[in-house]
Amino acid sequence: MTESAPLLRPKPWIEAIAPYVPGRSSTGDGRKAAKLSSNENPLGTGEAARAAFLAAADSLDRYPDAEATALRAALAAKYGLDPARVIYGTGSDEILHLAAGAYAGQGDEVLFARYGFSVYPIAARRVGATPVEAPDRDFATDVDTLLASVTPRTRVVFIANPNNPTGTFLPRDELTRLHAGLPADCLFVVDQAYAEYLDPADDDGAFELARTASNVLVTRTFSKIYGLAAERIGWGYGPAPVIEAMHRIRAPFNITIAGQQAAIAAAADDAFVAHSRAHNARWRAWLADEIAAMGNAGLRAVPSKANFLLVLFEGAVSAETAYNRLMEHGYIVRWLPGQGLPQALRISIGTERDMRGLAAALRDIVGAAG
Ligand SMILES: Cc1ncc(COP(=O)(O)O)c(C=O)c1O
Repeated sequence: MTESAPLLRPKPWIEAIAPYVPGRSSTGDGRKAAKLSSNENPLGTGEAARAAFLAAADSLDRYPDAEATALRAALAAKYGLDPARVIYGTGSDEILHLAAGAYAGQGDEVLFARYGFSVYPIAARRVGATPVEAPDRDFATDVDTLLASVTPRTRVVFIANPNNPTGTFLPRDELTRLHAGLPADCLFVVDQAYAEYLDPADDDGAFELARTASNVLVTRTFSKIYGLAAERIGWGYGPAPVIEAMHRIRAPFNITIAGQQAAIAAAADDAFVAHSRAHNARWRAWLADEIAAMGNAGLRAVPSKANFLLVLFEGAVSAETAYNRLMEHGYIVRWLPGQGLPQALRISIGTERDMRGLAAALRDIVGAAG
């Protein structure tokens, strides 16, 4: 019997999507393990945000404020922005999809750097656009190759700064040069999911650009340093017409009451953010030193300004082997063959205990092969 083609088929550009692969949460055999695979805050959630979340239980019977008025006001006050130009989403993921959805479609191109965030090609394909990757420069975003990859069909350019999964950072002069080289009919999205981990001196100037340019959108999230990944709250800042276009296609009640309340409290909790940033800087530097000390086993960490390290395995022990063996030791990290990085593991910065334990396990694993 010949199988007939199914009558119901998704659009070909939807079938072309390689599904997003989230970081694993468990080892598979039920053992307790340290999750260092999704760049969450190892210190948890701040007390104020947690209390606000719990208090929202009193409003479970209500729809949330569809305009997120209080959250937009809080963010605008914190960063000196116009609240009317703030958009919010179910995670910043939704904002990335809204940007692609409002500005790209069939026949258009969406441009990003090789080893950019894995949602960018999905957001492009979802709307029928063609994802285009510009070559990296030693794992970092390269302004020259990005500009050389712009065509008359380029509608959206995404960059993550710092970038995930590499942790690399494009400084202000380079970001400005990239923007200056892009045509005005192309939306430039600067995804700052990890911006709070930067030293204040490392401001890439994206908010400044978004204040004045007609084609710049900045996105941020409460999932990382604020420790609210479960609540799925992201936001963006851009020109009024861009924000308005995205509102047209956003789901009406896309962020919950608990999420809005927790985010407002978290945004005001500067002490928790400062503490989290300091913890991250300390243990990222510590882990980078440990990896450098394993250089003779072929390990090398890409310099990172985020809350994780991309570790390259260029010696006898492969990244895949290390990934599986780390899992046996109780550490779940991210192996990235689907992103063209089969030689790399991305390791989130965890607690002191996680970092010391992971480094010891890794030493054991790469030493064992010698
Ligand atoms: C660069 C980057 N952008 C955006 C996101 C999306 O985060 P969320 O949807 O939780 O805001 C992530 C999450 O890992 C990320 O790494």
